[in-house]
Amino acid sequence: MHMKASDHDHGPKTVPITFLLEDPEPLTGDASKTEVTCMGAVGENILEIALDNHINIEHACGGVCACSTCHVFLEVGEEVCSEPEDDELDRVEEAPGNQINSRLSCQTVIESESPITVKVPAWNRNAVKEVPH
Ligand code: FES
Repeated sequence: MHMKASDHDHGPKTVPITFLLEDPEPLTGDASKTEVTCMGAVGENILEIALDNHINIEHACGGVCACSTCHVFLEVGEEVCSEPEDDELDRVEEAPGNQINSRLSCQTVIESESPITVKVPAWNRNAVKEVPH
């Protein structure tokens, strides 16, 4: 399933967000892009920002919290992003490589202006896609 990169309006892109890509080639088509810094807006989620900037984070369910393929690690900026809800926590628990700063990028919304760093693990592209219900 594909997700439209950004299907609603946001404010100005004032939040710097850095993506650390463990395996950039399948995500961007460029093996040398281990770090990409771009700008996001308050109200956008991390998956939207990644897709807008040609970082193809896996998103098997289309960004509706029904898989765990968009799993990332929120390295910096936890305090400026939305708190995970129970549904997200349940999904993240099932995700491979789950750790304390694990988030579903489609559910992690920027709430205020402060730099964010997100690590996209190498296995993101290899996650098993779930069959839609
Ligand atoms: S894309 Fe499925 S939970 Fe984020």
